[in-house]
Amino acid sequence: MSSSVHDTIRVNDLLLTVPLLTGAVWPKPPGQAALQPVLISLAIPHDISSAASSDDLSQTINYSLLCSLLRESFNDKTPPLETLETLTSRIFDVLFSRADLILREARLKVTQSRAPLNCRAVGLEADATSSGSSWTADYVKHFCVDLECSTIIGVNACEREERQTVRVNISIERWDSLAQRHNWVNYRALTRTLHEVNAHFSLASYIAVVTLEHLWVASPDPLQPIPFVTVKAAKPYAIVFANSSEIEIRRTYSDYPEAFARERRVEPAQGLDTAHTAALALGSNLGDRFYNIELALRLLEAPQAVLGLTDETVTVAVIDTSFMYETAPMYVTDQPSFINCACMIETNLAPLKLLQLLKMIETTVGRVPSIRNGPRAVDLDIILYDNAVIDTRQNPRKELDDLEGELVVPHPRLAEREFVLRPLNDMIPDILHPLLHQSISTLLAGLDSTSDAIPMSKVIPFPRWPSPADYVFPHPSVDPVPVTLTYWTYPSGSSPTYRKTGTNSSRQTRVMATLNVTPDSFSDGATHNTLPTALKYAQSAVAAEASILDVGGYSTRPGSAFITAEEEISRVGPCIAAIRSDHPHLPISVDTFRPQVARAAISAGANCINDVYAFTGPRSYPFTTELEDARGCMLEMKKIAREFAVPVVLMHSRDDARANKDYGAYKYAGPGQAVVEGVRIELGAKVDFIVRGRGGVRRWFVIVDPGVGFSKTLDGNLEVLRDATAITGDVYVGVGNRRRNSLTGYPQLIGASRKSFLGTILEQNTGRKTDPKERGWATATIVACAVQQGALVVRVHDTHEMMDVVQVANALWGSAAIKASYAI
Ligand SMILES: *[C@@H]1O[C@H](CO)[C@@H](O)[C@H](O)[C@H]1NC(C)=O
Ligand SMILES: *[C@@H]1O[C@H](CO)[C@@H](O)[C@H](O)[C@H]1NC(C)=O
Ligand SMILES: *[C@@H]1O[C@H](CO)[C@@H](O)[C@H](O)[C@H]1NC(C)=O
Ligand SMILES: *[C@@H]1O[C@H](CO)[C@@H](O)[C@H](O)[C@H]1NC(C)=O
Repeated sequence: MSSSVHDTIRVNDLLLTVPLLTGAVWPKPPGQAALQPVLISLAIPHDISSAASSDDLSQTINYSLLCSLLRESFNDKTPPLETLETLTSRIFDVLFSRADLILREARLKVTQSRAPLNCRAVGLEADATSSGSSWTADYVKHFCVDLECSTIIGVNACEREERQTVRVNISIERWDSLAQRHNWVNYRALTRTLHEVNAHFSLASYIAVVTLEHLWVASPDPLQPIPFVTVKAAKPYAIVFANSSEIEIRRTYSDYPEAFARERRVEPAQGLDTAHTAALALGSNLGDRFYNIELALRLLEAPQAVLGLTDETVTVAVIDTSFMYETAPMYVTDQPSFINCACMIETNLAPLKLLQLLKMIETTVGRVPSIRNGPRAVDLDIILYDNAVIDTRQNPRKELDDLEGELVVPHPRLAEREFVLRPLNDMIPDILHPLLHQSISTLLAGLDSTSDAIPMSKVIPFPRWPSPADYVFPHPSVDPVPVTLTYWTYPSGSSPTYRKTGTNSSRQTRVMATLNVTPDSFSDGATHNTLPTALKYAQSAVAAEASILDVGGYSTRPGSAFITAEEEISRVGPCIAAIRSDHPHLPISVDTFRPQVARAAISAGANCINDVYAFTGPRSYPFTTELEDARGCMLEMKKIAREFAVPVVLMHSRDDARANKDYGAYKYAGPGQAVVEGVRIELGAKVDFIVRGRGGVRRWFVIVDPGVGFSKTLDGNLEVLRDATAITGDVYVGVGNRRRNSLTGYPQLIGASRKSFLGTILEQNTGRKTDPKERGWATATIVACAVQQGALVVRVHDTHEMMDVVQVANALWGSAAIKASYAI
């Protein structure tokens, strides 16, 4: 109750007799009420300051007024009341509807003295506050006094020979609304169950479990409040053991992980020996937000340096990351939008030490203490720590919004924050909240159904390479973090905001212009292999407003000549450097599968890697981590992507584009879906290996490419194009041991420009053979289809023409594509 209260007006144990439909000692048939004596106690804080401008409240509210009001309203003529909870609600209705009382808050205790069998009294206490037209109760305590259990209990053998009577007081506290039916307690059922509790060694604990079980079964709501059960047990006749025979315990679900873990599906860390897994949320809304988050993540993995520890065994490893989101600020609206994401870590730091590390990182990254929930450079929170429930606060009610210095895990606001739930859902959708016993995906679905969700879109940052001349190294213990060149946004999965925007084409497919600096590339070979032509092409791509330029020096065309890495570097390096100097703000990707080429290209100014083998190199099908070639290539590519913090395009292929086109060999989904399923599973395995585990690439940097024209038949290519949305759908894959699609939620690049399957279609139908350059119109169809399927970006050669196609297709399907993607 608020601090401006100077006085309290009380009514103590006012006896009322009311008709109740439930809770009688000997129950009546359903629908018949029994008159029940109940004791009402009321405490009303007397707020002088709010009454200063009107009448003096002390003249308006007094004991006898309240008593007569309650007696008038509740007596044997009152229509039957369902339960003690409904009675409590009605009393609040009466109190708060009386304008002359001008009540702001009240605490009410209702005790049913002729209680159910086996106990002396039951009842509840509730705090309610009024906001003028309505009231809400946000604290409810149910209690049961002097419940008798006859049981065998005791530590000494002599005690255990006979039954003894044990008296137990139970209270159930919830910081939640009385109006929620699932918060009601069926005393009769509960006390009967407890009376029958028998011969249990740790009686109080057992009673707590049974009580929690009772609440748990009775409360199906996903945002079910967390009850705290206090059990006080005494053996009234065991005088000898008086000192040791009284016990008081306070318990909640998390104290009994075994009993309340029926649906728990926590995936243990695999192959790693550190003890704890934690989920952290990261947010930034000040300065270079992407830089701040990347720096924070790198500092996280350098705990010794940040905390000044000499203990070399202390480890923190980031083992998974979410997508990245741009979120409108939630509580204070006149400030820049937030970038939010989350990560999973493995650590041997205890929770409070981890909290200390996070606070140090916030300081290091440049947190400016300011208004609460206001701007800050970076914000780090522990959301989950194993299954632990931790609360260091003295007063759990008061300080929810100001956790400074305190640790509450799971984060108390988790269930109401889309910007935390959505990133968690990217990584651990099936993990159960240790207190709410609902999976992250269920909690998120609950939020999605609310109307006032905040707008969130996914983002992909592009770093600036090379770093500017005045670049300052952030910290001696971490690799230099690049500053941000630009970032792309695209609609986030099923954000209801985007659903609501209707005709607003918030999904806008982008265009990647393609520059092959190879003498033999199938489509424009030999046209751009000199610097001036390359620069001219880049200039024209920029003029056409392409979002990114893809530069490749090694044709993946079937039968193209082998070149060494040095040769490849000599083709793309100078070209990228020249384009970078002409177009400092243009994102440039390097089309390569070779780590050394990727590294050289980034040094020259590329800021994205586009790899047709998804980091596994050209001899990796089927992908297994035992394959030396593939493994070496993978580790090196991951390292480079991590070090330079660049987006990566990971394509599905089965090595040689001409071979391995049979998807029937795998028990993939039925006809018409086998190739889509094959892409999900095969590329999904690679993407998982790239994103998850130690040293993984941040999920927000990954763009997937289904590999149209690679290792697919004509029909396979068409299937993939027609149903591209399904490739990244939130679906289950595989037969038997079905699991969540690893590609769920990733943005897609679709590149089909001028490819030979288009030539095949034309030839089959017209008999006319086409040159790649003559497949522009055919390509336009595919580009339109890719937009309709919601592709993030299409890779094209004829930038100006295809840009027109994309503009019109965006207008047609920009929002339709969004709706389609939600349907999954
Ligand atoms: C209390 O309320 C009663 C009934 O309204 C009234 O008669 C009485 O004067 C009040 N007493 C005081 C001390 O205000
Ligand atoms: C239970 O509560 C009642 C009433 O407050 C009290 O008299 C009794 O001693 C309590 N019993 C135990 C076991 O704490
Ligand atoms: C045991 O009870 C007596 C009297 O109630 C009290 O003085 C004494 O401190 C108690 N001893 C313990 C160990 O609690
Ligand atoms: C579409 O979204 C943009 C950016 O959020 C906004 O400025 C514009 O007004 C919206 N247009 C419509 C038609 O809602």
